[in-house]
Amino acid sequence: MSNHILIEKRINAFNKKIFVSSDKSISIRTILLASQAVGISRISNLLESEDVLNSLKTIKKLGIQYKKSGNTYIIEGFGLNGFNTQKKITVNAGNSGTLARLILGLLVKSKKRVKLIGDKSLSKRDFSRVIIPLRKFGVNIRSKKNLLPIQILGSEFLRPIKYNENIGSAQVKSCMILAALNTPGISVFNTKASRNHTELMLKSLKYPIKIEKKRDNDLIEIRGLSQFKGFNYSVPGDISSASFFIVLTLLSKKSEIVIKNVNVNNSRVGIIKILNKMGANIKLKRKKIYKGEKIANIHVKSKENLKAINCHPKLNSSAIDEFLIIFLVAAKSKGISKFKELGEMNKKESKRLNLGVKFLRSIGIKVDRFKNNINIHGNPNLILSKNFEMKNFLKDHRIFFLSCITALTLGGKWKITDKDSINTSFPNFLEILKKIGAQIH
Ligand code: S3P
Repeated sequence: MSNHILIEKRINAFNKKIFVSSDKSISIRTILLASQAVGISRISNLLESEDVLNSLKTIKKLGIQYKKSGNTYIIEGFGLNGFNTQKKITVNAGNSGTLARLILGLLVKSKKRVKLIGDKSLSKRDFSRVIIPLRKFGVNIRSKKNLLPIQILGSEFLRPIKYNENIGSAQVKSCMILAALNTPGISVFNTKASRNHTELMLKSLKYPIKIEKKRDNDLIEIRGLSQFKGFNYSVPGDISSASFFIVLTLLSKKSEIVIKNVNVNNSRVGIIKILNKMGANIKLKRKKIYKGEKIANIHVKSKENLKAINCHPKLNSSAIDEFLIIFLVAAKSKGISKFKELGEMNKKESKRLNLGVKFLRSIGIKVDRFKNNINIHGNPNLILSKNFEMKNFLKDHRIFFLSCITALTLGGKWKITDKDSINTSFPNFLEILKKIGAQIH
């Protein structure tokens, strides 16, 4: 079966209410924490994408049973380190950096050696960022050049650590928090701001974790070996998936959208702050708090005359997965937009900063690049009419989504390969686009 799509027409004006797929970061965390809880957890609206299904397969391989009943996954945990591995096993994180980094944190006490592998993209990504702190806890880890495959053997003699996390990576922070759960004593992490779903979930479970907000970082203190009970969780929508529909609406004519029940945790809403600074008028309505997480409906209307932004790097971590689609808005805005210190983008499923720059240039936008800083020379009159073919992007789902939104808002005749990449995070992306009126073949 062919694995590409064709888009040859811009989308017509629309006015819709939609739900996007459930949050990937939260889905993976609920599964991993349920695997450490005492008793039954019930998780509804779990994202059923490959990264999340690989998380379920992983805990199953480690001896934790689950089943699905209606819209709810039921997971039975046996408490901290309740994994039951009879022999040396291999777990496959597929495309998921989050699963791979976080599961290592839960294997710090594993009695049997576990081998962690992943797909081609994940096998190119650097794991030194988690290997270094995990070794400080006393874990035995083997890997060539800090790449997958990684062999991990737990220890009975773990010690709590103090660690400065200065990348601003939620995966590193969460890996350390999960390792600290299984370690006696109090571990202390000084962390640069990043998404805080792991901390909020543990707080909602009344786990002994303290978070002190400093000016630019969080001081996290966590006491190990405290058990928590099974829990219920209903996963909200994913702002990273919503971001493509936000920009689709913004750059289309006379259109409106309401994206319902989306997680708008402050550590995730960089895209809304950035686009509103560029002149958009994105509103959050029906706000509520659920287990410490902020949730709202996102209201967006089309907007002409968007203006360039000089984006403060402080916003980077809260928009880290959304920069590709933000670049598209910059391409259509008046003036020169400046983005700085975006090296982390090149550490994702593909080298997204490099590919983003290449993509913008291929649609005729001037981009200056100085290491990890870029200037995008916007062109509000940009309309495309040529043929475009998107291929060789390491099947990065977010590059696929970006290409679709570009085709639907700027025009041109597009052939976009690796349609299957959407299964990583947003399997019904094309279905929703079609419902809004997109013509996709
Ligand atoms: C994620 C953290 C981010 C993000 C990724 C999901 C998470 O990665 O890019 O898609 O769920 O913790 P880093 O922690 O590497 O910044």
